Amino acid sequence: MCGIVGYTGRHSATEHLIEGLRRLEYRGYDSAGIALGTPKKLFVEKRAGKLINLENSLGKAIPDAHSGIGHTRWATHGGPSDKNAHPHCDNEGKLAVIHNGIIENYAELRSDLESRGHTFDSETDTESVAHLLSELHKGHKGDLASAMREAVALLRGSFTLLAIHSDNPEVIVGVRRNSPLVVGLGEGENFLASDVSAFIEYTKRAVALGQDEVVTITPSSVSITDLKGRDLAFKEYEITWDSKAAEKGGFTHFMLKEIFEQPKAIADTLLGRLGDKNQIVLDELHLTKEEIKGLAKIVVLACGTAYHAGLVAKYAIEKWAKIPVEVELASEFRYRDPIIDKQTLVIAISQSGETMDTLMALRYAKAQGARVLAVCNTNSSTIPRESDAVLYTHAGPEIAVASTKAFLTQLIAVYVIGLYLAQVRGVMSGDDIRKIFNEMDELPAKVEQILETVEPLRELTRSFSQSTSVLFLGRHIGFPVALEGALKLKELAYMHAEGFAGGELKHGPIALIEEGTPVIAILPFGHEYSLDEKMLSNIQEVKARGAKVIVIAQEDIVVQGADHVIRIPGAPALLQAVLATVPLQVFAYEMAIARGNDVDQPRNLAKSVTVE
Ligand code: G6P
Repeated sequence: MCGIVGYTGRHSATEHLIEGLRRLEYRGYDSAGIALGTPKKLFVEKRAGKLINLENSLGKAIPDAHSGIGHTRWATHGGPSDKNAHPHCDNEGKLAVIHNGIIENYAELRSDLESRGHTFDSETDTESVAHLLSELHKGHKGDLASAMREAVALLRGSFTLLAIHSDNPEVIVGVRRNSPLVVGLGEGENFLASDVSAFIEYTKRAVALGQDEVVTITPSSVSITDLKGRDLAFKEYEITWDSKAAEKGGFTHFMLKEIFEQPKAIADTLLGRLGDKNQIVLDELHLTKEEIKGLAKIVVLACGTAYHAGLVAKYAIEKWAKIPVEVELASEFRYRDPIIDKQTLVIAISQSGETMDTLMALRYAKAQGARVLAVCNTNSSTIPRESDAVLYTHAGPEIAVASTKAFLTQLIAVYVIGLYLAQVRGVMSGDDIRKIFNEMDELPAKVEQILETVEPLRELTRSFSQSTSVLFLGRHIGFPVALEGALKLKELAYMHAEGFAGGELKHGPIALIEEGTPVIAILPFGHEYSLDEKMLSNIQEVKARGAKVIVIAQEDIVVQGADHVIRIPGAPALLQAVLATVPLQVFAYEMAIARGNDVDQPRNLAKSVTVE
């Protein structure tokens, strides 16, 4: 949520900032702005709407500057407008601040500052920080980092802040508390950003900033201190993502590209998981055999799409490893009194590794003594850094706001965890484990096969584009898939969409069916649980009430009564979550196009939700 970038070096700051913002725009796109490090007074330009509005208003009259900060906003305090866009400045226009997060005590700060003569220009929480920092900067004789340390002591909430001052324009200072900030180390130039995608084109060397750390960058130096001003040593890491991976590569949208990258993402996530003795390898877990055998339960915490991967985890881990699994929305978890202890393994699933609710829930779980395993797609992000162990998914950068490839790799990760726990606990034979793993190895080719045959689905989707509501029905593994299909459609098509367990149909949802209501029924499981018959009955029930039924079914299931059948290749029921999801992603994508919506940046959403 909100993308932040800072640059100081030899090159054009405007170019670097705009390019960085383009790559961060998926984090928020209500407005965008930059402040350039020009002497005497900063050059500031900001505009409501997408980045293109800022670019248009910048035109050619841009001062030549070699440092600056830039921001793309997802509005919290104050609606999306030019005035509320970041950066925010002090009254002299010498100091500018950008912010991701929420300053909870901003109203208090604002009234204090106003009583001391500061005049405010916006309705944001952030502007208070600009005025506060400006006062402190004077008190600290122009030392921006010291002023920032003092300011942070007065702030409540979560924030990443970057500041620049025209007295010393090549210096940019940043701080983070519960929101992300990474440093990019260049040659004669340095960067700060919400995530590495903002600067991977220029450098592959990065440093992840820790909680409550203050960073100062100049073209030739990077220094990090704690809030007391003590120097901290830092460790750099290499970014393995290719900068090309964060570009569209000939596809019309990032989402479509990411859907087509899924076979590779799955294969990459599976790589190295089967050892030379045909055993599942999960050394990252760092739990002894005794600890694994002693696990009383597993609690999966996640939000959004990742939560749906958690629901699949429950089916897989309980079946294979015979450990009870609870799945909870991270935002609900710490506001009740969950029963967890040392024998609980918490699995926190997060693509970005920065989702605030998931982060807070995992901190709570750790404080209760639970062991936390993160399943994450973003190297060195906060959630893996605060977990005891991490299993990285290898989806590569996911730019489209609606998650696709990250979800499929999360499913792969939870399958691997399930099989590994089953292996260590000795509750499944090596042969059975291997057999399932071999089936997993075939998933990339099967996803490929689905993607080669989606054309009819595209046309079909368009024929439903005027519907007001779409229902998704599934049983067993088809249920989380139904939830995910509905979520994708809401996010992208802005249609009323709901996923239901087939068995619940008669307990309410059937009342929603009207003549022509599209119902997508998911029948991914061969005959393993005799659930296909039950789903077929559900199909008859909705058909009888006028629904138009689209069925997603494994090749060998005889489907009667459907208006359209989308076939997916066969696989064991649990693994079918991967395959059955793909047509639903395409359905949502096509629906967004048919309805003229912005696929990669759907309204009101942000990819990385770093506020509670
Ligand atoms: C946002 C995104 C979703 C994502 C959810 C959880 O809502 O738009 O696509 O599933 O956050 O994100 P995470 O990064 O924790 O997986």
